[in-house]
Amino acid sequence: MNSDDVQYLNEIGYGYWKSQVLFTAVEFDLFTLIGGGGKSDKIIAEKLGADLRATEMLLNALVSLRLLKKTKGIYRNTVASNRCLTKKSPLYQGDRIHHFHNMCGYWSKLSTAIKTGKPTAFDDAEGEVDEQKLREFIRAMHNIASVQAGEIYRKLQIKKYSSLLDLAGGQGTYAVRFAEKNKNLKAVVFDLPGVIKIAREHIKKSGLTGQITTKGGNCLEDSFGKGLYDIVLVSNLLHIYDADDNLEILKKCWDSLMKEGIVVVQEFVLNPSKTLPLFGTLFSLNMLMGTHSGSSYTAVEMKEWLKKAGFKNLKRVDLDMDSGLIIGCKL
Ligand SMILES: C[S@@+](CC[C@H](N)C(=O)[O-])C[C@H]1O[C@@H](n2cnc3c(N)ncnc32)[C@H](O)[C@@H]1O
Repeated sequence: MNSDDVQYLNEIGYGYWKSQVLFTAVEFDLFTLIGGGGKSDKIIAEKLGADLRATEMLLNALVSLRLLKKTKGIYRNTVASNRCLTKKSPLYQGDRIHHFHNMCGYWSKLSTAIKTGKPTAFDDAEGEVDEQKLREFIRAMHNIASVQAGEIYRKLQIKKYSSLLDLAGGQGTYAVRFAEKNKNLKAVVFDLPGVIKIAREHIKKSGLTGQITTKGGNCLEDSFGKGLYDIVLVSNLLHIYDADDNLEILKKCWDSLMKEGIVVVQEFVLNPSKTLPLFGTLFSLNMLMGTHSGSSYTAVEMKEWLKKAGFKNLKRVDLDMDSGLIIGCKL
């Protein structure tokens, strides 16, 4: 073992130190506080009501992580932290970072999940869904979707479609972003009733209630209608469920499409040996602990379900970030 090996192991071992620094900065909304100008550690500590010596250590670690710059004792946001970590930015990612923080509890029980094969996220969450946690989760999904919506709109040429089902659409980020650009598009956001309540608020705020409607339901139990849509988006849903459930969901997507319609699955697509990309392999463990039967899947697995559901002309479209699209045509 050479020093590079040891360094590599160390980096994995203390990886959570880096996460904790970012979680803490986001929790304090430090990047918004610093804003467009620069601030000294003293001013930042005062505004946070925090200890000066400790604040300086945190700020210096953030500089080392390339999330802040420091010149003559003044701390400034980098271009990236300004764009992704200040609250007013349309590309704000703080809710997603906060969501990673929320997952620490069940990730600390990974060894239990490996032994039992069962989720560790539900130990103390019997019964009612915590509304605040649900809102935090849905905002985290909104952060990612906000970054990806433009690229997906372009790559799928959404401007040529007129009826979209945003299945398990969360607060409807994709439907809203697509409808803003394509004024001929009518969209339905389908999700569990508790989430649809949040989607309605978001759609109302966007001023697009004339183009976007909602439907509360359970995609494992309810129909999505017959021959209604020319595009169905199934974004980040299939990883929650197993192969049998996913086949049933995709069959219902087929039913809901018009003759020339397409289904678009977005997922963290694994390579054939399921060993890359890194995020996809880790996300699989996240689903082991956070769901009852979910996983990341390979393109071959998803294409197999699409074929069985009746779809033809299957193709894959890669995206800039960790996920990819698998597209199937009804005709
Ligand atoms: C990971 S989020 C993805 C949200 C959105 N599609 C996106 O990509 O940003 C998964 C969504 O699936 C919804 N969902 C999970 N199981 C569902 C079910 N059985 N019926 C309807 N929606 C479901 C969740 O409520 C959540 O909004």
